[in-house]
Amino acid sequence: MDPVVSVLGISGSPRRHGNTETLLDAFLDGAREAGGEVDKVVLKTMEYAPCQGCNACHKDGVCIIEDALIPLFDRILSMDAIALASPIYTMGITAEMKGFLDRAQYLWARKYILKTQYFTREHIRRHKGVFISTAGTGWENVFSGAFPIMTAFFDIMGFEYYDNIIANDMDRYKGIRNHPTALAGAREKGETVVRILSELKGKEEGTQESGSGAI
Ligand SMILES: Cc1cc2nc3c(=O)[nH]c(=O)nc-3n(C[C@H](O)[C@H](O)[C@H](O)COP(=O)(O)O)c2cc1C
Repeated sequence: MDPVVSVLGISGSPRRHGNTETLLDAFLDGAREAGGEVDKVVLKTMEYAPCQGCNACHKDGVCIIEDALIPLFDRILSMDAIALASPIYTMGITAEMKGFLDRAQYLWARKYILKTQYFTREHIRRHKGVFISTAGTGWENVFSGAFPIMTAFFDIMGFEYYDNIIANDMDRYKGIRNHPTALAGAREKGETVVRILSELKGKEEGTQESGSGAI
């Protein structure tokens, strides 16, 4: 039996079942069809505070704010793949998504200040991060402000920045459901990422089995 690949989608749009969450759902449907163990969290439904910038985590790697984000970050670290979804708001990501990402500062401190967190190249190759977004305008650079944020977050969490699933011109299309290729493309990418990770995990298990056989 193929090893199970866990996939978590994180929806950062304040608008439930809008363009971005619908695109995320298509990706997750594809991942599920390929045999992935799939779940989704919606930031809008969670209660959490923004980072206070107190820098206490620089000393001990622990966030002083004990809210719903701490178990969510723990959960992300246990996933094989994550998909962060945010529409473009004022040329960047939403407040919900940015507020969430900034709170990973204690994990950044573990990696870059305290050096208690380290991810091997192999670990990163086996953990894939996807950015999903939509924008109203047809401007081709409309997602450019969001990419470096995702690069930083996936790096902190030990995930390879695997792919973007982005669709602009939502105003002209009058919604993601009228886009000619976006939903089918997202579904296909969900299937592909699970297939790739499943193969990588299969190889990993094979290596471990032959290793234990040798002992
Ligand atoms: C507050 C706000 C700011 C926005 N800023 C931009 C922008 O800078 N550029 C753009 O192309 N679209 C912008 N949009 C449009 C959204 O990105 C677009 O409608 C998106 O598909 C909405 O996704 P949703 O249905 O998941 O909310 C903005 C929308 C809102 C509500």
